[in-house]
Amino acid sequence: MTRHLITSAIPYINGIKHLGNLVGSQLPADLFARFQRARGKEVLFICATDEHGTPAELAAAKAGKPVAEYCADMHDIQAKIAQGFRLSFDHFGRSSSSQNHKLTQHFAGQLAKAGLIKEVSETQMYSPTDGRYLPDRYIEGTCPNCGFEDARGDQCDNCTKQLDPTDLINPRSTVSGATDLEQRETKHLYLRQSEMRDKLQTWIDSKTDWPILTTSIAKKWLNDGDGLQDRGITRDLDWGIPVKNGDADWPGMDGKVFYVWFDAPIEYIAASQEWVDAGKGDDWERWWRTDKGAQDVTYTQFMGKDNVPFHTLSFPATILGSGEPWKLVDYIKSFNYLNYDGGQFSTSRGRGVFMDQALDILPADYWRWWLLSHAPESSDAEFTWDNFQASVNKDLADVLGNFVSRITKFCRSKFGEVVPEGGTWGELETTLIADIETRIRAYETHMEAMEVRKSAAELRAIWVAGNEYLQSAAPWSTFKENPEQAAAQVRLALNLIRLYAVLSSPFIPDASDTLMAAMQCDDMEWPSDFTAALAKLPVGHSFTVPDVTFRKISDEEREGWQEKFAGTRS
Ligand code: 2FM
Ligand code: ZN
Repeated sequence: MTRHLITSAIPYINGIKHLGNLVGSQLPADLFARFQRARGKEVLFICATDEHGTPAELAAAKAGKPVAEYCADMHDIQAKIAQGFRLSFDHFGRSSSSQNHKLTQHFAGQLAKAGLIKEVSETQMYSPTDGRYLPDRYIEGTCPNCGFEDARGDQCDNCTKQLDPTDLINPRSTVSGATDLEQRETKHLYLRQSEMRDKLQTWIDSKTDWPILTTSIAKKWLNDGDGLQDRGITRDLDWGIPVKNGDADWPGMDGKVFYVWFDAPIEYIAASQEWVDAGKGDDWERWWRTDKGAQDVTYTQFMGKDNVPFHTLSFPATILGSGEPWKLVDYIKSFNYLNYDGGQFSTSRGRGVFMDQALDILPADYWRWWLLSHAPESSDAEFTWDNFQASVNKDLADVLGNFVSRITKFCRSKFGEVVPEGGTWGELETTLIADIETRIRAYETHMEAMEVRKSAAELRAIWVAGNEYLQSAAPWSTFKENPEQAAAQVRLALNLIRLYAVLSSPFIPDASDTLMAAMQCDDMEWPSDFTAALAKLPVGHSFTVPDVTFRKISDEEREGWQEKFAGTRS
């Protein structure tokens, strides 16, 4: 049976992520992991914090903490918030782990052995004012590709082009703002990606089922001529993984570290080793080594579009170039951006709603539902408070919540808190059952294909079908003339609550738990056998009326939040 290895792009350590980050990688990855587990598949779901590089150093300096301490603190904070959102990672690792140090150095050694690393003496930007080299984010300027004025030294946020600090027009130091920068000679290691162009091209061309967003970005950089330039994989920084050739020192590389984008994706593997070393698993190689069982694994990566070049070109170049039987990704699901109320979410500018703030105002399920049902798949999407209020109130409160509340309360008042006996299903029920079964199969197809919005729409339609059925069957009216038939209707509806809990669990896991607890049932079996699924709560089975499953967002709350989050957070 297929096993699913699932990774989410690992978030930078520098601060708490906003909802746009969440919906672009961790949340849809969680949805997919939960779905596969619910279907009985074996899953390894990995994420971590991305702790090296200039973002970490800059943020630690701002927080006035030593960088190691800053990273340890922020990792715990991010882990706690991830738990708050019910992100069901099997392991949430750290790219600064000893496992990643070793493995990154190992890959560098393998690449060197394969002749894929060259030493280059090059000019780097040096700031006399700051007394240091300025790699990556220590430097900003105008993008030579698109003219964006705040492009960073490593990548342009506007056009996603990977850059080198020396490419920037009008460069300035992000430490001091100094513009009196000099170019100085220093030695660095380069990964000869260009040598692997044909291999990568063949590999990308074979991925005909990948989302267009993923392949179009990959092909753009592959065919761009300079897209597959050899890339510097070392930096003049203090914090990071020391440059070594396997276990051995690398002459002339003292005091240098690997580039954060070299070690970050390797952390997917290292985090799986951390998972074993933490006693949570017993074999990471069967997930990652095709000579040790990983040929049966389907590996899916989730990420925002800005991460695609690194995952379609740079990381595969590392994996393929190593000459070792590592598992390559099978499917890359990428996302566009989520915008916030007429502008962009921005970590550096503190604009939008951040993960901790979101949980302070509403439980995770409300956010999960809105974000996933509006995932930026085919184009950028926008969060507005109006839309958030409308979706939550309609889908969660009016449709799902109302269904559950009406039927459980009605049953309690007429039959008590047990599944009632008697009666048979008629035409209405037969039609409903056929409709829901068709929809469940469509839902499964969309979930398998990671079509997040379509999946949400189908799930919503399944909830709506139940609600509409209640409306037309109206057991409260039936009861007056034919209590037995009303009992049969209630029995079906109560079983639908359990069914909804199972089907909805990847989207809204807490509500799913609440419904299962209320139905006093722990049988989460996926409804592959639909007839059996509708008989899980037999006659005489007791239940309780759950508390309000979802509450509505009032206009006052909406206005208050709109105002509260209109500014920027410091
Ligand atoms: O964009 C980001 O947040 C990066 N930290 C993603 C890294 S993903 C991977 F390579 F590990
Ligand atoms: Zn640009």
